[in-house]
Amino acid sequence: MTKPTQQAAWADLQKLYEKNRNVTLAALFAQEPARTQRMTLNACGLSADFSRSAITPDVMDNLLALAKAQGVEAMREKMFVGEKINATEKRAVLHTALRTSSDASIVVEGSDIMPAIRALQAKMEKFTVAVRDGSWLGATGQKITDVVNIGIGGSDLGPRFVVSALRAQATGPRVHFVANVDPFDLLSVVEKLNPATTLFIVVSKTFTTQETLLNATSARSWLVSALGEAAVARHFVAVSTNQQAVEFFGIKADAMFAMWDWVGGRYSLWSAVGLSIALAVGWPAFRELLAGAAAMDAHFRTAPLAANMPVLFGLVGLWNRNFCGAEAEAVLPYSERLRELPRFLQQLNMESNGKSVTRSGEAVDYQTGPVIFGECGSVGQHSFHQWLHQGTGRVVAEFIGVRHDDMNRPDHASVLHAHMMAQVEALKSGRESADPARTNAGNKPSTVLWLDRLDPHHLGALLALYEHKVFVQGVLWDINSFDQFGVELGKALASEILKKG
Ligand code: F6P
Repeated sequence: MTKPTQQAAWADLQKLYEKNRNVTLAALFAQEPARTQRMTLNACGLSADFSRSAITPDVMDNLLALAKAQGVEAMREKMFVGEKINATEKRAVLHTALRTSSDASIVVEGSDIMPAIRALQAKMEKFTVAVRDGSWLGATGQKITDVVNIGIGGSDLGPRFVVSALRAQATGPRVHFVANVDPFDLLSVVEKLNPATTLFIVVSKTFTTQETLLNATSARSWLVSALGEAAVARHFVAVSTNQQAVEFFGIKADAMFAMWDWVGGRYSLWSAVGLSIALAVGWPAFRELLAGAAAMDAHFRTAPLAANMPVLFGLVGLWNRNFCGAEAEAVLPYSERLRELPRFLQQLNMESNGKSVTRSGEAVDYQTGPVIFGECGSVGQHSFHQWLHQGTGRVVAEFIGVRHDDMNRPDHASVLHAHMMAQVEALKSGRESADPARTNAGNKPSTVLWLDRLDPHHLGALLALYEHKVFVQGVLWDINSFDQFGVELGKALASEILKKG
C-alpha cells in the first residue's frame, strides 16, 4: 500500500513531466552550458554523467524526494545489516558482506557470518595458489592448464564477464565457460582440452539445475573415460549451498566451496562462484575486485542521496522509464573487454526487476524494469544504432568508456573515444535536413560512464554500482528485486514434458 507521501511524490513528478514535456535536451544545454559539469559525479574511480536526460533541477529535487518517500535509505541499511529484505524467500541479501574488509559481525539467524566468509576465502586462496603454482596436480601428476566453469545464469554470467574483462591481466590457467545444455557447448570446449590437465568447477547454488547437472555429468564421463573414476577427486570441485547433492554427484565435501542462501545467484560472483576469476587472475587481483566493490558499497551507504552515484543512476533511469516512457536501456561499452557486460546486466536487471507485484503482493499500476540489450558500441553502431537514432522506440543509451586502457595504442584509443562521444552527441542534438530520411530528431537520453582504468578495482566498483542501481530502482518500484519465481513455471513444465517422453 503506498503512503500519502509516496503518492504525492509520484504525483508531483507527473505534474513536472506535463509542465516540462516539450523541454528539449538542446534547450537545457543552451540554458546551461556547464550542465555536464554540474551533472557529472565522480566516485571510486568512476565518473557518471547524467546531463543528457531531460531532468531540470526541480525534477531532480522531486526525484530525491521520491527516494526519501520510498524509504531508499532505510531499505539500504536493512540490506547492509542483514535484515531479511528478500521477504518472499525469507532471506537476507548480503553480497556486500562478501567484499567488506571489516570483520565487524553481521548476524544472520543468530550467528555471525563473517568467520564463515573468512574461512571460505582462506580455502579459495589456498586452492587458487595451489592450482596456479602447480602444487595441486591432476591425477597423472600434470599441472592444470585449463579450467572449465560449468554453471548457468548467476553461476555463469558474472564470472564469465569478469574473466573476459580482465583477460589482459590473466596469468593463470585458461578459463572456459559452459552454460548451455545444447551439447555443442560442452563438446566444443572439451574437444580442445587434455583431460589430464583440465579442472572442472561445477557451480550451482542449488545443485538442482538440470542443465548444469547434465553438463557436469557429461563432463565427468569425458574425464572418467580417459583417466578412470579415481581421477574425479583431482579434476572436479563444486561451488554450492547443497552439500548432500554435491556428494551424491560424487564430489567430496572437502572439494566443495560453500555458498549461502543470503547470496543471490546474480549477485554471487564475489563468493566462491568467482573461483574461476581467482584462478585466472590470481588471488591478489580477486581481492582487488572485492575492494573496488567495497569502495562503491561504502559510497552507496554513506554519501548523501544527492551525491550518491547508484541513487542518482537509479533515479535518472526511473525518470526516463516511468515519466518519459523509455522501454529499454541499450548498454554500449566502448571496450572490447567489456563485451560480455550487456549479457551480465540482462540477468542482473531483468531477473531482479522484471516484476509486476509490489512487496505487499498488489499488482503494480506502473512500469517496472526495462528491457536491457546491448553490444560493444563501436560494433553496434554499424548494426542497431540506426534504430537508436531514427527508430520509433524509446530507449536510454548507456555509454561506458575506459579513459586509460593501458594498451599503449593512442591511435586506436582516440578513434574509439571519438566514436563514442559522436554517438552521445548525435543522440542528444540530432541533425536537421531538408530530406526527412536524413533527419536525426535527436533529443534522445543517454548516460555516460567512464572508468579511469580497466583493472580489478575499477571493475569491482562498476559492478557494485550496477547492483546498487538495480536495488534502488527495486525500492522505488516497491518490488522484491531478490526473488525470481517467474522462471519456476518453465522448469516445472520442462520436467513434465520430459516425463511424458
Ligand atoms: O533459473 C534461474 C536461476 O535460478 C537463476 O536465478 C540462477 O542464477 C540460475 O538459475 C542458476 O541457479 P543455480 O546456481 O542454482 O544452478
